[in-house]
Amino acid sequence: MQPSRLALSVAVDQPGPKISRHIFGQFAEHLGTCVYDSIWVGEDSPIPHVRGIRRDVVEALREIRMPNIRWPGGCFADAYHWRNGIGPRAARPRLRNDTWGAIETNAFGTFEFLDFCAQANAEPVICGNVGTGTVQEMRDWVEYLNAPTGAGLADERAAHGHPAPFGVRYWGVGNESWGCGGLMRAEYYADEFRRYANALGNYEKSALFRIATGPGVDDYHWTEVIMRECSAPRFNPRVMDGLSLHYYMNGGIPPGRAQLKLLATDFTPDQWRAVMAHGWFIDELITKHTGIMDRHDPERRVKLIVDEWGSWYAPDPGPRTSLFFQQQTIRDALLSALTFDSFIRHAERVHMANAAQVANVLHSVLLTFGATTVRTPTWHAFHLYVPHQDAQRLPVSGEIPVLTHDGLPYPRLSVSASRADTGSVTVTLAHTDPTEPLELELALPGLPSTAKPHAHILTARALTDCNTPDAPNRVASQKWESFRYGSGKLTATLPPGSLAAVTFG
Ligand code: AHR
Repeated sequence: MQPSRLALSVAVDQPGPKISRHIFGQFAEHLGTCVYDSIWVGEDSPIPHVRGIRRDVVEALREIRMPNIRWPGGCFADAYHWRNGIGPRAARPRLRNDTWGAIETNAFGTFEFLDFCAQANAEPVICGNVGTGTVQEMRDWVEYLNAPTGAGLADERAAHGHPAPFGVRYWGVGNESWGCGGLMRAEYYADEFRRYANALGNYEKSALFRIATGPGVDDYHWTEVIMRECSAPRFNPRVMDGLSLHYYMNGGIPPGRAQLKLLATDFTPDQWRAVMAHGWFIDELITKHTGIMDRHDPERRVKLIVDEWGSWYAPDPGPRTSLFFQQQTIRDALLSALTFDSFIRHAERVHMANAAQVANVLHSVLLTFGATTVRTPTWHAFHLYVPHQDAQRLPVSGEIPVLTHDGLPYPRLSVSASRADTGSVTVTLAHTDPTEPLELELALPGLPSTAKPHAHILTARALTDCNTPDAPNRVASQKWESFRYGSGKLTATLPPGSLAAVTFG
């Protein structure tokens, strides 16, 4: 029997490392309707837009303070040639997107992506092509983006309408180079990474943050080799700034487990637990990969960049909409919370992460249905975590029961706490049990007596509920007032399968 009452404490006066806002990033790939229809509708569209970029999508992403967005893939990045997406749109080639079986009009290219980032107030993260590209092609793209005018590709950029350098900082050198990005061995990619990354220019005010392709799931050999060979090579010890990691719940399989056949909106409590356990497996992955990184880079200069994560369900039966389109339920909001909490636990090393993908594909915060954009329960999880962005992590103590499913552990309650520059303290409470409520007593010693709690909670009437154009707020966070607070102690009953955020300020 698990105890149904937990007593926890947050040490408000012991601020730890900063929680990088970049762990709440997104990912846009030319896949299904992730870019076309959701971000890009074009300048002739009746859907409200600014220079072809959908206004409601931008607004919804600004509300969750999307800090960055990765583009153009994914597997698509290693087949993408940037010159096809610059200059006058009418002159751009119409090509096959063989990666994902579609036609690529190239209407959304470099300028459009950077305009979207500027409108959304997000930093661009560009993934360059190693799989089918060349060092020269990647080097040229960086020059086109970041060099000052007066010569070469910067003058071409100016002729296209943007004289000022874009100042792109975050740069991926290939994607999944062990898989769709070239089927390379770690030893081979290590040399390729050094050659590519070393050739990319650092221009004024925009020294690149170079991200090496990292392991898929539990490929610890990959991490070992890339850290050994690339984290500090003799003639350029700062060639690598980040190592990526990809893990999809139900897309990557923990060792010794079978692929689950989970559906997005049709599931039992037992299948809920499977998602919690397979989702929380990311914490073991991060612990083990960062353990290897610590050996090679004890100062933690090279950051872990989890640039693809999320749920990946089996396709729903019934007519297929666009590729990898899947709905989201409160189960995915809880999976998001567990994942954020793991990033926060490892804040010393995890600098950035990108949920895959921002709209209409896999673990999306937004779904577009014609002219209507719907915020998913996952959007609400991102929204509840906004106060943790760039705040300092606070220690949480107390005994939290560990549950297991499929032999994999996960916490009954996952808690993150942080203190913002303003002094306000936020605690997020992700209650992973789908059927039983939980009594919680949360002490916050050291909290000023003037601090007042303001809280929101995300629950769902049925765990399988999702948001649709007819019911866009079926699963949405609400103001939460049904708790008691006094003398620095909060007591509450957390409903089954719920996510709450309390800010004391
Ligand atoms: O997100 C879909 C695909 O999954 C990405 O393109 C690839 O990087 C990963 O394997």
